[in-house]
Amino acid sequence: MPETKIYLSEKEMPKQWYNIAADLPTPMQPPLHPGTRQPIGPDDLTPLFPMELIMQEVSQERFIDIPEPVMEALSIWRPSPMIRAHRLEKFLGTPAKIYFKYEGVSPTGSHKPNTAIPQAYYNKREGVKRLATETGAGQWGSSLAFASAIFGLECKVYMVRISFDQKPYRKALMETFGASIVASPSTDTEFGKMYSEKNPDSPGSLGIAISEAVEDAVGREDTKYALGSVLNHVLLHQTIIGQEAMKQMDIVNDYPDVVIGCVGGGSNFAGIAFPFLRDKIAGKEIKFLATEPASCPTLTKGEFRYDFGDTAMMTPLVPMHTLGHNFVPPAIHAGGLRYHGGAPLISHLVNTGLIEAEAYSQLDVFKSALDFTRTEGIIPAPESSHAIHGAVVEALRAKEEGKEKTILFNLSGHGYFDMAAYTNYLSGNLIDHAMTDEEVSENLKSLEGLPMQFTG
Ligand SMILES: Cc1ncc(COP(=O)(O)O)c(C=O)c1O
Repeated sequence: MPETKIYLSEKEMPKQWYNIAADLPTPMQPPLHPGTRQPIGPDDLTPLFPMELIMQEVSQERFIDIPEPVMEALSIWRPSPMIRAHRLEKFLGTPAKIYFKYEGVSPTGSHKPNTAIPQAYYNKREGVKRLATETGAGQWGSSLAFASAIFGLECKVYMVRISFDQKPYRKALMETFGASIVASPSTDTEFGKMYSEKNPDSPGSLGIAISEAVEDAVGREDTKYALGSVLNHVLLHQTIIGQEAMKQMDIVNDYPDVVIGCVGGGSNFAGIAFPFLRDKIAGKEIKFLATEPASCPTLTKGEFRYDFGDTAMMTPLVPMHTLGHNFVPPAIHAGGLRYHGGAPLISHLVNTGLIEAEAYSQLDVFKSALDFTRTEGIIPAPESSHAIHGAVVEALRAKEEGKEKTILFNLSGHGYFDMAAYTNYLSGNLIDHAMTDEEVSENLKSLEGLPMQFTG
């Protein structure tokens, strides 16, 4: 019987992050200042981020050293295991080999601490006392709360109201780590107050919560902002996942034909995919599949153009696939995938044809999540279940074609705080919603006047 769990020792943990910016086949469009519409410089970002993260955001270095205190904190749970899903393979009757990288072993249950730890560390090193952030599903907020506790920072989290109501124990977890939490839209910021007055029943959105956290950070000397996805430096920090997976594939003398991850903003997908993408850029044949909800189909139906990262239009304009910064997605259970934009790096790689994207319905995703739970024994986060479903679709295709294939997907988190979603699914109360082309075009009307591309 081939091995099930493939472990690395702590000594084998990668000591550098991989920066795909050094290997892109075509250059990216620059982020633009929201006022001047000219490329932003490091100074424009200093109210929000510490200088080290700003430098990583624009770095062209292929590898960037992971500082020792960050390595030490990551070693609380890393390296994470890679697991062969023997039982799921058997259940599906597929000739494909299915491996998954399990990021749910982190203290807060997902990949998010991989970037929360370095972000808190660089802020602390540059004298910052307090961090403000948003959270959707609660995974990012919990992770920044944990990282803030590790490095002795205060932490304020604006949590999207629908998740705040659906996930009381995520809030309790963040408070246990020492953070303070408020439901967004809140009355703690000017934007939150204005938005709530106009939309008293709003379920909130990541775009709104980002606006509140940015306003909080810009308004206080002692505070900076931290983002859990989308930005280049966040994707960079996640590449430890794929680099570990490469070493683990070596141990079992295998290599993936298909690499799959779910996409909200794009960070866990980047984490597993970018180190392997380097091989694809160098000529190797590998399929990369980004999976997303049909109700928030950013990569498959969104338009590639400049848009704001937040609803209040406070962030720089970034080139990305977007459904429009005013988009408030339906209240599906994969809270962490309800974001109107995709990371500029992921959007760019989709445009260049290096990454494919698929959108799946909520009910199909939960069906695969249950099959996975009942064979592999782990209850997956609803977000990660989009990657599981992608792996199931690929494995069934391999069965149909009678092809042996090696599939690797990122199980970005566990779902033990998401039991309300499972209860709803099991009692037949979950419904499907797919965004139509008409709805997308209607929503994109709000972007009229914003540049499609930077022409200098
Ligand atoms: C478990 C899990 N997976 C995936 C995501 C999506 O984010 P990203 O696309 O940045 O990995 C989230 C976001 O909250 C999450 O909690």
